Amino acid sequence: MPLDTASHKIPVARNAADLRAAVAEWRTRGETVALVPTMGALHEGHLSLADLARAKTERVVVSIFVNPTQFAPHEDFSAYPRTEAADAAKLDGKADLIFAPDAADMYPQGFSTTISLSGVSEPLEGQFRPTHFAGVATVVAKLLLRAMPDIAIFGEKDWQQLAVIRRMVADLDIPVEILGGPIMRETDGLAMSSRNVYLTPGERKAAGQLNVVLRETAASVSAGTLISEAAKAGAARILALGFDKLDYLEIRDAASLAAFPDDRPTSSARILVAAKIGKTRLIDNMPV
Ligand code: PAF
Repeated sequence: MPLDTASHKIPVARNAADLRAAVAEWRTRGETVALVPTMGALHEGHLSLADLARAKTERVVVSIFVNPTQFAPHEDFSAYPRTEAADAAKLDGKADLIFAPDAADMYPQGFSTTISLSGVSEPLEGQFRPTHFAGVATVVAKLLLRAMPDIAIFGEKDWQQLAVIRRMVADLDIPVEILGGPIMRETDGLAMSSRNVYLTPGERKAAGQLNVVLRETAASVSAGTLISEAAKAGAARILALGFDKLDYLEIRDAASLAAFPDDRPTSSARILVAAKIGKTRLIDNMPV
């Protein structure tokens, strides 16, 4: 199948062979390549990753694939926004190629391999979404092996995901440099997310306060409050904002996501939160 050049201004590869052929042609000219993996429904956060890619390499591939294996049966796989035409328009001038395979191409009949990590994938999101990171690691490995980019860029909003991917790439000797792109925020500080479209106006207002609680909780720990005390106070504030359920509010080692045994940070630390409001589950994080 040749590249799909009819659907959008940017050419689209819909299978591994076409993606590899496009990348191989760039390689013959000595051009470097970045991959920005996404699930589409692109917002300014994703576009900032494409801009970062553009600044680092000659060629930019953005993949768009709503990966079924990282959603649990009760999660929002079927409701997840799918907006390929709008996404392609936003990428005009920012990407050289979109890679948008379908599920049958990524997971053909008989597909049997799963990459699962211990350690970094176990706490936090791993407790609440036990099959999530295996789905992410497996699809990201496939995307990296298909595109073979020089660098791959992921948003820091999914901080634990970034840590899991770094670990996997190191463990499996995948020859790619992994870069994190800073979280993009709305004017009230809400971390940009494709899931923010689910929020009702009332929920959206409360959601905009989540980052304020994070910042103040982090500042409190920096000023000497014990992690457990600061987290307890932060949790109460989040529930008082109108969130229905707090999955976690934790301060952890920024790289390993391990807890601090002495209730005080002893290395580079990160505050991470996941909370549900209405039907929407939001996550966010910041340095401490
Ligand atoms: O962060 C995401 O959008 C996804 O988890 C990713 C990395 C594209 C894998 O499906």
